[in-house]
Order: sequence, then structure tokens, then C-alpha cells
Amino acid sequence: MTAIGIHDIAIATGHHVLELDDLAERLGVDPAKYHVGIGQDAFSVPAPDEDIVTMGAAAAKEIIDRHGVEGIRTVLFATESGVDQSKAAGVFVHGLLGLPQSVRVVELKQACYGGTAAVQLALGIVARAPHERVLVIAADVARYDVDTAAEPTQGAGAAAVLVTADPDLIEIEPAAGVFTADVDDFWRPNDRSTALVDGRLSVTAYVDAFVGAWDDLVAQGGPGYEDIVRWVHHQPFTKMAIKAHRKLAQHVGQPFDDAELALGFTYNKQTGNTYTASIWIALAALLDLDDELDGQRIAMFSYGSGSVGELLTGIVRPGYRAHRREGRVRSLLEARVPLTVDAYRELHAAGAATSEDTERPRVTTAPYRFAGVRGGARRYEPTTQD
Ligand code: CAA
Repeated sequence: MTAIGIHDIAIATGHHVLELDDLAERLGVDPAKYHVGIGQDAFSVPAPDEDIVTMGAAAAKEIIDRHGVEGIRTVLFATESGVDQSKAAGVFVHGLLGLPQSVRVVELKQACYGGTAAVQLALGIVARAPHERVLVIAADVARYDVDTAAEPTQGAGAAAVLVTADPDLIEIEPAAGVFTADVDDFWRPNDRSTALVDGRLSVTAYVDAFVGAWDDLVAQGGPGYEDIVRWVHHQPFTKMAIKAHRKLAQHVGQPFDDAELALGFTYNKQTGNTYTASIWIALAALLDLDDELDGQRIAMFSYGSGSVGELLTGIVRPGYRAHRREGRVRSLLEARVPLTVDAYRELHAAGAATSEDTERPRVTTAPYRFAGVRGGARRYEPTTQD
């Protein structure tokens, strides 16, 4: 049977960064609470001319530059922070990238889980038509109200994932563990640009979904715990993954050391929560930084509040190291422009989506920018007009 899975992953993030040390100082909080207690160091903040479309397009551009458009007939855009109630964000990306018209584009939503649903749909499309390739884009701006417990767990970023037959990076295995429970741990009513969250409930809901998805994976004939050499998790904050993994290890009666998850935390500790993109950014970190994965089985746990969890496994393709982009994400993170707490809060206050006509200042150096709203419609353009 032809292997189907992830051929390439590209990451994008916001133009700015807020160091959590600065937020801790402003709020009179011990910085160790952020670095150790929740396991985060900083979060990305979009410039006024950035949003999920510009970040998603930047990540997708890298994929198209490397692999071309041949065989791409489907673009799936997953997000919690959509910019329009009707038009899929992927249609803006389709236009910016000049993709062919013979492409279907749609947007998916289920909090942070949507990107994994998109990858599952992509696997199904490629299984039926192995000559096709599916471009999955997951992009989000995680926004909570300022002066709430959730404020340090915001973030921004995007991942573009190319799903193909005979992939360079990971063959996804057919068995998956899934779990759904109707829980009010995190939600965002239509009249709000910031999420409402019951932080403590979100921890127990995530842990329940992880253990439940594991049990379902076992019931579906998936691999044993001892056959999985590495794990990556959706990371609203990296400590969440540790808490959940400790519970699973207890559940299956296996030893677990927190350090086992450390490489997959490397980028998310810097971007903050990127909702749908978080698990793919974690996977990119693992593939970039772990040299021992040839032919090894890894597990990927996705969680979207509300709640849906899914546990996938895959076999890393021998030779994956020749296809990774070492240093690319690190240089993106290092290029971010630091903000003071006042400047971040000013951007936060202005960050809600609007249908009123506006012009956005030129700030971002990413390939595409949000120019503003004209005639009620959002306008995007390349950052450099040549
Ligand atoms: N040194 C070291 N550790 C310290 C410390 C210090 N000085 N001070 C406190 N800590 C530790 C605490 O002991 C605690 O650790 P444990 O959880 O291991 O006990 C940790 O720091 C956090 O402390 P608190 O529980 O007091 O923190 P808090 O009340 O301020 O809230 C939070 C923390 C609940 C995570 C909050 O930031 C929050 O609500 N964040 C958002 C919640 C979230 O992201 N949920 C995930 C939803 S899933 C998702 O991503 C959404 C989706 O689907 C779209």
C-alpha cells in the first residue's frame, strides 16, 4: 500500500514578540510562574497589518516555493480566529499565492483541533487520488482579555502542511484515537474577539480527551505505548502537555520523565498558543531538532476545547533529516521585534476585527500584508510591490 502522510511543514509567526519577563514585572508576578509553572517564555504578537491570512499565506508560500502547485487541488484552512463569517480565509491565500482556479478551498473550525481534522480529510483525499497533494493551512491569533489569568498564554502563528503520497517526512498510520465531550472549557461567542476560558476546567478536559483518545486508539488496533518513541502535543502552554502525559503514563502503568517532551516545546515556548497551528509547530520542532527519528514511530495529540481530541501516529521516513529546514524557524523567532507591555496592550486593544473602512500602517516584513478594509471587504497585498 502507498504510504500517505506529511511531505513538508512550514511555519510563520507574528512580527512582534512580548517577553513574559516584561509582563511578569508589570503584573508583579514571579517570572518563574510563567517559565516553570506554565512553561512559556514569550508570545508572538501580530503587527497591525498581519492576521491569520497573512501568516497562513507566508507559511503556504514556503511550501509552494519548494514544491510548486502541481497536483494541489484542495486547500483546507483551519482556524479558531476566522476573519469573516462567510468567506474562507484560504480563498484570500489562494489569491495572494496565485494558485490555479481548479482548486477547492474551505475553512474548518473546532477550536484548536481544526488543523488535525484538515489533515485527516487530506489523507482521505490523497488515499483516493494519490497523484493529488493537499495544502493544509492552520493559523491563529490567540487572544484573551488583558489582566486575566489567561493573558500570558496568548500567541500567534501558522503552519502549512503538505499532505501527499510517498511523503518525505512522516507516513501517517491508519488507526487514530478520537474523543468528543461537550464541555464549556473555552469558547468564543460571535460578538467577541477574545476567548472566554475556564482555565482549570480546560486542564481536566484536555487530560480526559488525551486518555480517552488513547483508549480509543488501542481499541482501533493502534500501537502499544512502548512502541512509540516520541510524542508531540497541542500546547496551549507547554506545562499542559506535561500534565496530560503524566496522567497517560499512570493510566498505562509506564514510567515518564518530563524531559522526554522537551524538544517538541522549543518553538511553542516562544510563539505562545497558536491554537490550530500549535501541534504542527511542535512537530516541526521535533523533526528539526531530534536526529534519532529515522523509521521511528511518533504520536501526535491534538485537542480543541469544547471539546475534541485526536491521537495520530506516524512513522518518520528514513532520510527525513535531508528535508528539514534547520535554523529557519529559529531565525524567524529571532527576527521578531520586541514590544513593551504598553505597546503590546495598545495593539491588543486595536486588534478586534472590524468591517469599518480602515487603512493599516505598513509594519510587517512578512511576504503579505493586510492593507485594511475598503467597502467593508478585507484587502490583502504583497508587502513588496514589484
Ligand atoms: N514558580 C514556579 N511555579 C509557579 C510559581 C512560581 N513562583 N507560581 C505559580 N506556579 C505554578 C503553580 O503552582 C501552577 O502549577 P500547577 O498547575 O502545576 O499546579 C502554575 O504555576 C499556574 O499557576 P496557577 O494555577 O495559579 O495559574 P493561574 O490561575 O494564573 O492560571 C492557567 C494558569 C489556568 C493556565 C491560565 O493561564 C489560563 O487559563 N490559560 C488559558 C487556558 C488554556 O489555554 N487552556 C487550554 C485550552 S486548550 C486551547 O488551546 C484552546 C483551544 O482549543 C482553542
